[in-house]
Amino acid sequence: MTSKLLTPHADTLERAGIALRAGKLVAFPTETVYGLGADATNDRAVASIFEAKGRPTFNPLIVHVANLDDAKRYAEIDAQGEKLAAAFWPGGLTLVVRRRADCPLSLLVSAGLDTVALRVPHHEIAQSLIARAGRPLAAPSANPSGRLSPTEAAHVVEGLGDASALAYILDGGPCALGLESTVVGLPADGPATLLRPGAIARAEIEAVLGVPLADPAAQGETDGRSSPGMLTSHYAPDAPIRLNVTSPHADELVLGFGDVACTLNLSPSGDLGEAAAHLFSMLRILDAQAKATGARLAVSPVPSHGLGEAINDRLMRAAAPRN
Ligand code: TXA
Ligand code: MG
Repeated sequence: MTSKLLTPHADTLERAGIALRAGKLVAFPTETVYGLGADATNDRAVASIFEAKGRPTFNPLIVHVANLDDAKRYAEIDAQGEKLAAAFWPGGLTLVVRRRADCPLSLLVSAGLDTVALRVPHHEIAQSLIARAGRPLAAPSANPSGRLSPTEAAHVVEGLGDASALAYILDGGPCALGLESTVVGLPADGPATLLRPGAIARAEIEAVLGVPLADPAAQGETDGRSSPGMLTSHYAPDAPIRLNVTSPHADELVLGFGDVACTLNLSPSGDLGEAAAHLFSMLRILDAQAKATGARLAVSPVPSHGLGEAINDRLMRAAAPRN
């Protein structure tokens, strides 16, 4: 299975591109998290992403493209979208926009909606892979559905290494941001909406738009369909987990933030960017320790400004009742 792991260089990227064109899956690094990629124009290939992840089919996927011009081949991008793209692409922002009438992307990436989530990644390996494949790449985070997102190639091997449709895992080392992209919906008939907090803080986006981002709930979209990724239990470790803990119990492993006594510290100096980059990998390490010892997990309070909004969102999902 480890033979699926490739060190990215011209030859291996070429092989990965060929596999994608043949309808296989390739896991690849982005600056946010590792993605499980497929040719977004190939229905069968996209379907095998859902199979490999065990993902409910109503949850649509992000399509990764090389640049704004490519994005415009697939979707209608208005003035607001252009503004956001100019400010944040390439990078950790995903835009949910209306599919063009002649959009050649698989309908399955939109899971039945008339919109598509588009992102231009900054990571050099992600960009090379899009170029080598010569196709837009549908790619959700490369983890089994509902589990912690992968921020290292080894996490992908652990979660999806045995998936038969997965041809290769490109090892690009740890992801710099470590949190999924921020997802912003740009409906033609309503305000820009923060569908998922993520790697780019709300305030940065609002500064570019010049208006506050709306809340999906405020749009009357509480059934989880407008951004079905906002399901409650998600990003879950196995061990039970308590949040905002200042006095841990004796049987708890503590994921700290700032100057606190703890088992592992997201950021001893209280830097939210550093904490975001460590979040998923440290939760994995503590979860494995908890499994071995029967311990539980506790997390220190993390402030909710800036990237703290996305960090707290992921922590709340990790702590939500499991189904
Ligand atoms: O950083 C990331 O965004 C990573 C890397 C690999 O790019 N990808 C990722 O994809 O996290 P995924 O599939 O795990 O999350 C996609 C999010 C989900 O919350 C999904 O519901 C939402 O985007 N989404 C996708 N298409 C949508 C659409 N048409 N309308 C509303 N939400 C959509
Ligand atoms: Mg995910």
